[in-house]
Amino acid sequence: MKSLTVAVSKGKLLPDTVALFESAGYTVPDLHNGRRLIADDEQGALRFLLAKPDDVPTYVEHGAADLGVAGLDVVMETNADVYQPLRLGVAQCRLSVAAPKDLGDVPLRLRPDVRVATKYPRLARDYFLGRGLSVEIITLRGSIELAPVVGLADLIVDIVETGRTLRANGLEELRVIMESEAVLIINRATHKLRLSEVNQVVDRLQEAIAARRDEQERAA
Ligand code: PRP
Repeated sequence: MKSLTVAVSKGKLLPDTVALFESAGYTVPDLHNGRRLIADDEQGALRFLLAKPDDVPTYVEHGAADLGVAGLDVVMETNADVYQPLRLGVAQCRLSVAAPKDLGDVPLRLRPDVRVATKYPRLARDYFLGRGLSVEIITLRGSIELAPVVGLADLIVDIVETGRTLRANGLEELRVIMESEAVLIINRATHKLRLSEVNQVVDRLQEAIAARRDEQERAA
């Protein structure tokens, strides 16, 4: 039978993703180094594709991958039409609004021409529009914290995990827009047509997540 294809995110999320699939019983030696872009698990049940994190929902939405592992933040930003059955309990972080500590006390709605730098233009625009604030969104690809420091933007909308990057750049978190973590996403057609195979993967991942939670609780 044809294996199910899983698009996983290169970079920060990869070690946790590999560990999770390994504890669910899928052995994928080539996935660790993040260089080979396609790797099969030893039992031939899953084929992994290494993709840029922002592209994972696109692979899954268009059926180039049956399943995907991506940050919920990225899934929401891309607005991909995918089935999202499972939070994976790793890569926990939040999407927040942050500003320089010396921004001052004038409320945002009274400030003209507020500029917001972000990798998440859709979520940032929705957030501010939802509060009746029309801001200029400046889309960057990374190092977002630099933007207010050099005067490119007044605020940022970015991922905060430990808060170290904000502190190191004299910024403070003002509002949390959403909590995020890694999620499993599934192509809608695959979910209909190959449900029992999909459920097998989901069940094994769920067991691995529960086992890890138990272990963490015992260690605490
Ligand atoms: C992410 C995010 C923040 C940082 C937050 O950046 O965009 O910059 O991590 O983590 P912290 O709260 O633990 O400091 P990443 O390292 O992915 O690189 P990027 O700036 O190029 O997006």
